[in-house]
Amino acid sequence: MYKLSKAPLLSATQIDKRVESLALELKACDFDVILSALTGSYMFTADISRRMARPDLKIAFIRASSYGNQTESSGKVKISGLETKDIKGKRVLIIDDILDTGNTMLALIQAIKEYSPESVKTCVLLNKESRRVVDCHADFVGFEIEDKFVVGYGLDFAGDYRTLPEIWTLEEI
Ligand code: IMP
Ligand code: MG
Repeated sequence: MYKLSKAPLLSATQIDKRVESLALELKACDFDVILSALTGSYMFTADISRRMARPDLKIAFIRASSYGNQTESSGKVKISGLETKDIKGKRVLIIDDILDTGNTMLALIQAIKEYSPESVKTCVLLNKESRRVVDCHADFVGFEIEDKFVVGYGLDFAGDYRTLPEIWTLEEI
């Protein structure tokens, strides 16, 4: 059994401020297309892309799944949806919710590179540096966090908690 922490790890205001500053950095980078990994990054992607507010910036969603209903990564990553996207020669920004073991981001980068983009950069809302098992980093990071399972602001546990506006730690009871 799990329950939410007493207080949020990151409040909606903290997230909002960081998303704003990150969006300013990203806006200056001239990306052609954002490839956002469903489902966890849907809220972050919506908030950050509207703040980048560039009329020519494209958004596409792809699916990367490595988690079942557990809080541990399976290590295997299934990626789908890339075949229909316009990636060749484009400056791509990958957005994901969280960089944990790094398996997902590494698989995404490798899969996208198969489609000959001009460049690939990565942005995550959260980074759990201490959990990394593969050589993978994000070019843009919202917040560095400790090794705790977190939910809210798009991130789920077995499908729950995604719609909460704050980020919470999930505690075992
Ligand atoms: P990685 O492949 O281990 O880096 O895991 C990345 C994916 O696992 C993320 O895109 C999330 O979907 C999921 N994930 C990792 N840590 C958490 C967490 O603390 N809460 C919710 N989902 C997580
Ligand atoms: Mg994910």
